[in-house]
Amino acid sequence: MTTTTSMTSTALPDTPAGPAGPAPRAGSPLATAHSQLASAVAVLGYDEGQHQMLATPRREIHVAVPLGRDDGETALFHGFRVQHNISRGPGKGGLRYAPGVDIDEVRALAMWMTWKCGIVDLPYGGAKGGIAIDPRDYSTAELERVTRRYTSEIMPMIGPDTDVMAPDMGTDEQTMAWVMDTYSVNRGYTIPAVVTGKPLAVGGSRGRGTATSAGIVHVTAAALGEAGVPLDGVTVAVQGFGKVGSHAAAIFAARGATVVAVSDQYGGLRNDAGLDMGRLLAHVAATGSVVGFDGADPLSNDELLALDVDVLVPAAVEGVLDDVTAARVRARWVVEGANGPTTTEGDRVLAKNGVTVVPDVLANAGGVVVSYFEWVQANQTYWWSEQEIADKLEHRMTSAYGDVSALARRECLSLRDAALVIGVQRTAEAHRIRGLYP
Ligand SMILES: NC(=O)c1ccc[n+]([C@@H]2O[C@H](COP(=O)([O-])OP(=O)(O)OC[C@H]3O[C@@H](n4cnc5c(N)ncnc54)[C@H](O)[C@@H]3O)[C@@H](O)[C@H]2O)c1
Repeated sequence: MTTTTSMTSTALPDTPAGPAGPAPRAGSPLATAHSQLASAVAVLGYDEGQHQMLATPRREIHVAVPLGRDDGETALFHGFRVQHNISRGPGKGGLRYAPGVDIDEVRALAMWMTWKCGIVDLPYGGAKGGIAIDPRDYSTAELERVTRRYTSEIMPMIGPDTDVMAPDMGTDEQTMAWVMDTYSVNRGYTIPAVVTGKPLAVGGSRGRGTATSAGIVHVTAAALGEAGVPLDGVTVAVQGFGKVGSHAAAIFAARGATVVAVSDQYGGLRNDAGLDMGRLLAHVAATGSVVGFDGADPLSNDELLALDVDVLVPAAVEGVLDDVTAARVRARWVVEGANGPTTTEGDRVLAKNGVTVVPDVLANAGGVVVSYFEWVQANQTYWWSEQEIADKLEHRMTSAYGDVSALARRECLSLRDAALVIGVQRTAEAHRIRGLYP
């Protein structure tokens, strides 16, 4: 494999060449991921063999996960783990519990993790896992059994030096503690570095719970700063009020922005004077949803995406900004907290309308950055202070933003294409230096 460091073209193809195999469903996360990779490959001038190598997951596993339910019935779930690339280090990526999880979604998420780790220059490849389950329908004891069975089924693939999990949609630090315990008991000793995003009491890192959100705010501040706009006083709308969206909204508000709208899967809220974050977080902790909060008016998710705000943060699920919804966006910046919230068509519409998109692979990389810090701390069994972690995170995020933005300006690329080019190029460079075995 040869490396091409010069950019051959800034014109991106309309119909990207995909890797071998059946084409993913149009508009699906995998179709979006393939299209983004094809754009980066076109800019880098790689040949079709290199393209296919970068597009194709290195290893995949599909497991059956049987569950003995609390009522004595048996249920069966499908679980997946995909290692997209491991050329720069162990696979790294979250574990998702959601009803719609399938192998193609996990492939897309694993591919994005590869580029993300390259963009923030972590010594990791990209991986992802998931189980097709709606966690809200099961008791804590049932979720523990599902997690432990899934972990034991994929044991040959994971490990602190091979593939390291973290929380994603529908999973949390308790899930990571169960994974870590199951893995450790089977190995015969405690191995905290097999997962990140675990509780502090079993080797978690300070700052991990809010890291993705803090990173989103750092890159937003950097993007606005380039336009001479301070964060203090801008208006923000956040779709998704889970681990990423709720902390992002709270951090935006703490830094002086006015968070005028938030939503979750049940509905949304709007208050143009700014939502009271302390009271809203307490309401969500008590009821499980933003809906019914008395300090705001109700709003639908579609209305939230079309609000006249400075910054829109989609932090829920994939594909919410397609050609139709993107056309209604009035925000000047879209900062992608979720993975893959904008389809390829949606991206074209936003670009045409002059909206600056800070892409997921850069904007939400704060989580994997502090996961890396957690892994380093666990490997050294030496833990850092909260301030040390916050400072190192801010430095990584702002310097990654600076690299992406400088390339975008130099080569007349969107921030997404520039980020992808950096992530893809670092991965391809590792391939080239290591060579092909045998
Ligand atoms: N947790 C992390 O550290 C992390 C890191 C990087 C990226 N991400 C990505 O961020 C996104 C959110 O992850 P999370 O960890 O916050 O998940 P979560 O499960 O904690 O929260 C998801 C939120 O989205 C809402 N939601 C679900 N479907 C929705 C819909 N159709 N419309 C509106 N809201 C909807 C849920 O109600 C919930 O509020 C995902 O795309 C995930 O891959 C998460």
